[in-house]
Amino acid sequence: MDAMRSLEGSLDRPSAARVYDYFLGGTRNYAIDRVFADKVRAALPIIAPAARTCRQFLGRAVHHCVDAGIRQFVDLGSGLPTEGNVHEVADTASGAGDTRVVYVDNEPVALAHSQILLAETADPTRHHAIAGDLLRPRELWKEIRKTGLVTPDEPVGLVINAVLHFIDDDQDPAGALDYYRAQLPPGSMLVLSHITTQNPVDDAEREAMDYVAAQYESTTNPGLSRTAAQFARFFGDWPLEEPGVVYAPAWHPDDRTLFADDPPRTHVLAGVARKTAA
Ligand SMILES: C[S@@+](CC[C@H](N)C(=O)[O-])C[C@H]1O[C@@H](n2cnc3c(N)ncnc32)[C@H](O)[C@@H]1O
Repeated sequence: MDAMRSLEGSLDRPSAARVYDYFLGGTRNYAIDRVFADKVRAALPIIAPAARTCRQFLGRAVHHCVDAGIRQFVDLGSGLPTEGNVHEVADTASGAGDTRVVYVDNEPVALAHSQILLAETADPTRHHAIAGDLLRPRELWKEIRKTGLVTPDEPVGLVINAVLHFIDDDQDPAGALDYYRAQLPPGSMLVLSHITTQNPVDDAEREAMDYVAAQYESTTNPGLSRTAAQFARFFGDWPLEEPGVVYAPAWHPDDRTLFADDPPRTHVLAGVARKTAA
């Protein structure tokens, strides 16, 4: 697969990035995405608030990284810019205008909008958006380094949020994650979230989940579920920050966290791990 899907190939089917944007209330999506999103939301209404849950987790996790001293971030599968982008959260958390972010996505519309947003509102000396396929880790890491925004011996916040459930084991996401973890110095943090369909509330929800999974086969990003144990393996041997792998709303909830009273309802698993010294 090319690092970047063609624009034509991206627009003739719904894309996960744009469907997610629609669920988040964004406007950077097309009729083909909205028709698809409305159809799956009618079958499985939790899907839209679950998308918000992923996004809220991203914000809390990035804030946590900044509080732990991290000032440089790589956001793989960054999607369309929307409320609470990594550079905005990081800059707000730091309060010093000293955080750097490289955004990467292989979806042309997502990349184009990210570049426009950054050109209009961000600091080009600290924020970049580039095309890239996270499944080509060696090539991609070189491109990330070429931006000049990632200092090799300084801890990195590596964010892969709501992305891995679009990547089948056949594509070796675990191998890619192994590579990225190996590049990062001690103190770096890995922020991940992932859909799971292990705990439907009833048979009707199980059927709806199966239906939605079948519908996603027609998009540019067919999806899949993993168990908590399968998800946890993506952190490798990095120790998990408290409270470990949990349903996303249970990860350091704040007063805005949706489903804080019923985290499993979201079907979103999340965690943050930190590399220790060798
Ligand atoms: C649901 S969106 C999540 C966006 C963002 N991470 C967030 O949490 O708001 C998933 C994104 O992953 C991107 N993606 C999927 N596979 C990818 C790959 N192999 N390389 C880079 N990006 C990928 C999609 O294009 C999409 O923008």
